Amino acid sequence: MSAPLLTLNNGVELPAVGLGVFQSSAQETADAVETALSIGYRHIDTAAAYGNEREVGQGIRRSGVPRENVFLETKIWASDYGHDETLHAFDKAIAKLDTDTIDLLILHQPMPAYFSRTVAAYQALAELYEAGRVRAIGVSNFTEELLDRLAEWTDTVPAVNQVELHPYFSQPELQAYHRAHGILTQAWSPIGGITFYPGWGEGRHSVMDDQTLQRIAAGTGKSAAQVMLRWHLQQGRSAIPKSTNPERIAQNFDIFDFELSADQLVAIDALDRGVRNGPDPTADNARYMELTIPEA
Ligand code: A2P
Repeated sequence: MSAPLLTLNNGVELPAVGLGVFQSSAQETADAVETALSIGYRHIDTAAAYGNEREVGQGIRRSGVPRENVFLETKIWASDYGHDETLHAFDKAIAKLDTDTIDLLILHQPMPAYFSRTVAAYQALAELYEAGRVRAIGVSNFTEELLDRLAEWTDTVPAVNQVELHPYFSQPELQAYHRAHGILTQAWSPIGGITFYPGWGEGRHSVMDDQTLQRIAAGTGKSAAQVMLRWHLQQGRSAIPKSTNPERIAQNFDIFDFELSADQLVAIDALDRGVRNGPDPTADNARYMELTIPEA
């Protein structure tokens, strides 16, 4: 089984469902990547800041799937922003990932308090794109206002904006902005992990336990996670569910044999609470600069 493809604004195709490895330990990551590729996943999303790019590269190699058949996405961390710094961060990433090119390279955070460095980092991504070192470029955690600010400085529209997006925070206005500008919406925490990660704050409601999702899941014979992934798929988003558990990695890819009705999609849309669970990307976030990305 293979995932349907989504077409980016430059014609490059991206498998709609990929494996996420946020919070996957280095030891677990290579196994998870190898398992996912053996099941049929062909898209892996990592980041310099996750500290597991090297293990992603190992998992790809161990799987035996040719590198050119895998859509590889990674992110530049904030402390590497700036033109020359970002070009160097690309060199660090390809060395760790053991590859010459990256399919999708994105800025991990908008860093509004350091926006000139963010813009310089994005311009470096555009150069890497022009030079054929990356097949597409984009951003993550940008709001509509921050996308507007970026557009004042560049003609290269991001191919993707990867943002927190699950039924409890589905960002309909941002999705409409993306549609109007040809930017693909990519969901992080697509099955709402951010609503139940241990240690991520009190008073959260796990979207996995939501009554509406549970009812739809029971009616379709699928799990709540599968229903959420199907919702993303039918609404044209890219989703990168994280798991290190082989059964759940397989379950999250077993979503191509059922269909949600229009009413079910509307019912899931109606679960939006409009409240972010992850960090506010418009805040100063100076502490992000304290994380430095090691050399390869
Ligand atoms: P695990 O790695 O042990 O499977 P998200 O990608 O939305 O942030 O969600 C990731 C979280 O959801 C992780 O805690 C992951 O744990 C868990 N998870 C992944 N797939 C499933 C699934 N199919 N059912 C339940 N929990 C899942």
